[in-house]
Amino acid sequence: MTNRLQYGTPAKIFHWLIVALLAVQYPIGWLMPDLHRDMRPGAGMTFHVSIGITVLALTALRLAWRVTHPVAPESSLPAWQRISSEAIHWLLYALVLATTISGWLFASFRGWSLSFFYLVPLPMLASGNAAAGRTIDGLHQAMEWALLVTIAVHVAAALAHIFVYRDRVMQRMLPG
Ligand code: HEM
Ligand code: HEM
Repeated sequence: MTNRLQYGTPAKIFHWLIVALLAVQYPIGWLMPDLHRDMRPGAGMTFHVSIGITVLALTALRLAWRVTHPVAPESSLPAWQRISSEAIHWLLYALVLATTISGWLFASFRGWSLSFFYLVPLPMLASGNAAAGRTIDGLHQAMEWALLVTIAVHVAAALAHIFVYRDRVMQRMLPG
């Protein structure tokens, strides 16, 4: 399998769709009502979980696409930038998976029954288990912060390529 030199349209659509979903997912996560014992999930939680499951499904499809359509790093970059950008990209994939799966496990251990956007019932990964739920809650929060920090590094790198290096790296992820 030969490495492409450019991101194709599907890779760009996946990238910006997931950026848009994460941009609403974090505010919903922070603004939805705090959890307390025996609470039943309301609309905020239903949307948080539904958007999160959408991000998980899109990321699984995106990874399958990425593995079958590899893209070479920009050839004009020094080796340290090619290696570090690839490392950050794989870390982003791993952290999105860890955040979404830990969230789904947490909701499952709470014993909730949730729907996907009030349309269909959502399958749960486990049955109610309060102790496991407490452990996983910490994990979801740790992963969501690790993801946010990694996104900040990734966006700072994109800005550095636009304003400091003034090369064509940002163009690679833009339409056209
Ligand atoms: C990448 C996607 C996701 C992001 C960025 C994200 C982010 C967040 C944030 C910021 C909070 C608030 C935590 C706090 O108060 O500090 C939260 C809470 C929560 N999330 Fe997610 N989440 C994601 C996916 C999911 C998924 C897929 C589920 C379940 C299927 C889920 C279930 C929950 C639950 C149950 C809570 C409340 C528990 C808590 O406050 O820790 N999340 N999430
Ligand atoms: C406004 C915010 C963002 C900008 C400006 C941006 C910009 C870029 C650019 C220019 C690339 C191509 C890098 C290259 O040519 O090697 C890229 C790739 C990538 N971005 Fe972002 N990005 C942003 C947000 C995000 C977010 C929130 C995520 C979290 C999932 C993300 C995940 C990725 C991944 C995984 C790749 C690698 C794609 C691959 O090779 O499979 N990006 N981004």
